[in-house]
Amino acid sequence: MAELEKFKMAIGGQWVGAASGETFESYNPYTAQPWAEIPKGAAADVDAAVEAAYQAGRPGSEWRSMTASARGALLQKFGDALLEAADHLGEMETRDNGKLIAEMGVQCKYLTQWYQYYGGLCDKIEGSVIPIDKPATFNYTVWEPLGVVACIVPWNSPLLLLTWKLAPLLAAGNTAVIKPSEYTSVSTLEFMKVVEQVGFPPGVINVVTGFGADVGAPLVEHPKVAKVAFTGSDTTGTQIYQAAAKHMKHVTMELGGKSPNIVFDDAEVDNAVKGAISGIFAATGQTCIAGSRLLVQESIHNEFVDKLVALAKTAKMGDPMNMDTQVGPVTNIPQFEKILDYIDIAKGEGAEAVLGGAKANSLECGDGWFVEPTIFTGVKNSMRIAQEEVFGPVLSVIPFKDEEEAIEIGNDVVYGLAAGVWTQNIRRAMIMADRLEAGTVWVNTYRAVSYMSPFGGYKQSGIGRESGQEMIKEYLQQKCVWISTATEVPNPFVLR
Ligand code: NAI
Ligand code: MG
Repeated sequence: MAELEKFKMAIGGQWVGAASGETFESYNPYTAQPWAEIPKGAAADVDAAVEAAYQAGRPGSEWRSMTASARGALLQKFGDALLEAADHLGEMETRDNGKLIAEMGVQCKYLTQWYQYYGGLCDKIEGSVIPIDKPATFNYTVWEPLGVVACIVPWNSPLLLLTWKLAPLLAAGNTAVIKPSEYTSVSTLEFMKVVEQVGFPPGVINVVTGFGADVGAPLVEHPKVAKVAFTGSDTTGTQIYQAAAKHMKHVTMELGGKSPNIVFDDAEVDNAVKGAISGIFAATGQTCIAGSRLLVQESIHNEFVDKLVALAKTAKMGDPMNMDTQVGPVTNIPQFEKILDYIDIAKGEGAEAVLGGAKANSLECGDGWFVEPTIFTGVKNSMRIAQEEVFGPVLSVIPFKDEEEAIEIGNDVVYGLAAGVWTQNIRRAMIMADRLEAGTVWVNTYRAVSYMSPFGGYKQSGIGRESGQEMIKEYLQQKCVWISTATEVPNPFVLR
């Protein structure tokens, strides 16, 4: 077996192992072999990282003393440096996570935009002067950072989801302790080399690697952490929300989805077929925005499913390092098993697999953790396969009669992250956009995101938004200052 590549955590500007000296292995999902050795952090490492972040963010520190313009320039310089590192970071991600290099090359370059955008916002964080209703009183507001922000990130898009948190929190003047997923820590540790290279003051950005219970839990509980920004499963999100409540911490929660991708009979069929594919087979279905429920109008159901199956069949599986691979492996073994379990559950519920429905064994898939692109018809929205997040390449096709029924089925889940609508009728598109309970509605497109556009969930898909101008306030708190210019203090026994 090849020797493991060894990685270090970054705490307070130093490259360190875990205080315990322990490590764990990270696997390459295509080879199903361990390839990297990662420090196995625990509470002592969390303490050190939070203390470093806390000190780095105190009034009078180098970071807090920077002008907003200088902070913005540093973020933009960081964005430029990330662009230089993008190919390398993309390759690391593909090795550790199994994401397609074809997608990662582009995605890692795109990270730059968040740092440019929020870098540009740094010197536009303005308070206000309030024309207060009291005589001889000057009243103004300022926006201040919260302090130390814990960024807890999952394995499906490690650097993108980290960046959605890190760029705005830094722009707002906070400091960060990052906990990447135990399945995909490498790209974040390599990313820290870029942080070091551009010269953020030590302790502004720290990473502690390890498992949820060992690192994530003490990080959330740490009294000096002011906010937890989390992306991941709703189960873990709920636990974190509860733990954060003990110290009244701020939270942003970006959780799961069971998003409806809705195709009307007046849609451009070929585009809608591609939209359905990108909704569920891109990233091997391991995305929170997966359009995992395909709602198809009855009148075109059979014809549409035939076309969908025909195109899905052509998906090229194999080595994610090959530019022409279209469906890569599942990132980790528990997820691989979970997807196969859900396929059995769907079969048990009476759904019919018209494509796939098993693990993939073709030569191109080697020893990797591959699941065949799977399409179930005959799905009722009440079935578990339609209600629960599978997080894999498994699509449930559900027929509907008319707009009302599409809205009813579309909204009949606990989640509300995203929805897709395929129609050429503008009235219908706008009614659907209005009535669907989702933080994002895509019309005649799917799986589009931008640094400019707020992203987040309705209902149990989360709290708060990421990206866009306004969400920087989620990393700020407002202070109001009252100054009296009166020559005499009036009656002290009444409210002023
Ligand atoms: P998870 O939600 O448990 O993990 C996300 C992050 O939280 C990881 O860094 C993990 O180490 C950390 N974490 C775990 N327990 C924690 C705790 N008690 N306190 C603080 N941090 C903690 O997701 P996991 O276990 O990787 O995957 C489980 C399932 O979640 C998957 O099968 C998938 O269905 C779903 N999932 C959904 C995501 C989404 O974006 N909607 C992302 C990742 C997973
Ligand atoms: Mg891995």
